[in-house]
Amino acid sequence: MVGTPQVVNISDLRSLAKRRLPRAVFDYIDGGAEDEVTLRENCRVFDHVTFRPHNAVSTPSCDLRTTVLGTTLELPFLLAPVGSSRLFFPQGEVVAAREAGAAGTAYILSTFSGCRLEDVKAATTGAAWYQLYLAGGREVATQAIRRAQAAGYSALVVTIDTPVAGLRERDVRNGIKELATRNLFTMLPFVGQILMRPNWLAGFLGDGGLMSFPNVVLPGKGPMPYADVGAALEQAVVSWRDLAWIRREWSGRIIVKGVLTNTDARIAIDEGADGVVVSNHGGRQLDGVSSTLRALPEVVEAVNGRIEVLFDGGIRRGSDIIKAICLGARAVLIGRAYAYGLAAAGGPGVARAIEILRTDLVRTLKLLGCPSISSLAPSFIENSRSARLFPN
Ligand code: GLV
Repeated sequence: MVGTPQVVNISDLRSLAKRRLPRAVFDYIDGGAEDEVTLRENCRVFDHVTFRPHNAVSTPSCDLRTTVLGTTLELPFLLAPVGSSRLFFPQGEVVAAREAGAAGTAYILSTFSGCRLEDVKAATTGAAWYQLYLAGGREVATQAIRRAQAAGYSALVVTIDTPVAGLRERDVRNGIKELATRNLFTMLPFVGQILMRPNWLAGFLGDGGLMSFPNVVLPGKGPMPYADVGAALEQAVVSWRDLAWIRREWSGRIIVKGVLTNTDARIAIDEGADGVVVSNHGGRQLDGVSSTLRALPEVVEAVNGRIEVLFDGGIRRGSDIIKAICLGARAVLIGRAYAYGLAAAGGPGVARAIEILRTDLVRTLKLLGCPSISSLAPSFIENSRSARLFPN
């Protein structure tokens, strides 16, 4: 079902996901904030970077390995934290983590997940990182940090771009908030889209129905009940002052996700981050903020090799990954690219998304005359005037 000729690229997985999911769930994955300008820009900007190949060079094998924070990955991309993945497919986070491990890469688990962090870690043979939101306050986050440490997560990803939730207009119109109430009367105007997707509904009910957030355990109350992610994000604000206590609680690596400027990059370093992710939350938070590919050179320059710079946003092809690495990213995070696969077909869909990007990477490296990810350099690309990604 996810092989050729039906599925040739990530966009084909997106089409399958759209067919299997209720509109509210598909739009939660697919949509962004307000006018979705940043969401579109994240993808569009890649079109303005052109390659400069070394032709007549034979590269019989291409080495895709890269090292991120001391861990060698078979691929230069990791699976990004994606909230509510259990709504996309039964046991969604466990399924995605398993496929990441099988492909030799790392999985990053969102705080707003439907599976227990211990189960997700146990499902993968690869590295796992835990993405932290302060939902429920410090005490609740501290419990999650301790659990993540005990379960063997090797890095903590602290997301800094959620002082409030972005206005995701599709979610509002689709009644995400009403559907999360569990009150039939409130839900009623929005249930038609769900009844139109019986396959998804059967899987969802078989998986226990509306999940809770088992990694956000509220004192005396237990796991935080599912709320639409917008409402959950309202409580998730992190400030630089939090980095100090997080560092005290967590002895592993810390990565700050959501850096778009040289100022924030420098503060992250001063606060002891081991890495940053250049990210605008996939265009889901502040609409009108720069595409991440545009922000990348500024952050790379400010960091100046002191810590590792990761990247996410807009990646739909292996060539996009190569462009981001040429501009200084150590590796990238893919979010929607694998979430579409998970929603389309579960584990095989995630594996297919990874395989599409892997074969893209090999083909693109060969066409560039470049033997490995570690040999990529700015000289393999140029930016057209309209993109002005870096001065040349
Ligand atoms: C969660 O972080 C989301 O962007 O939906």
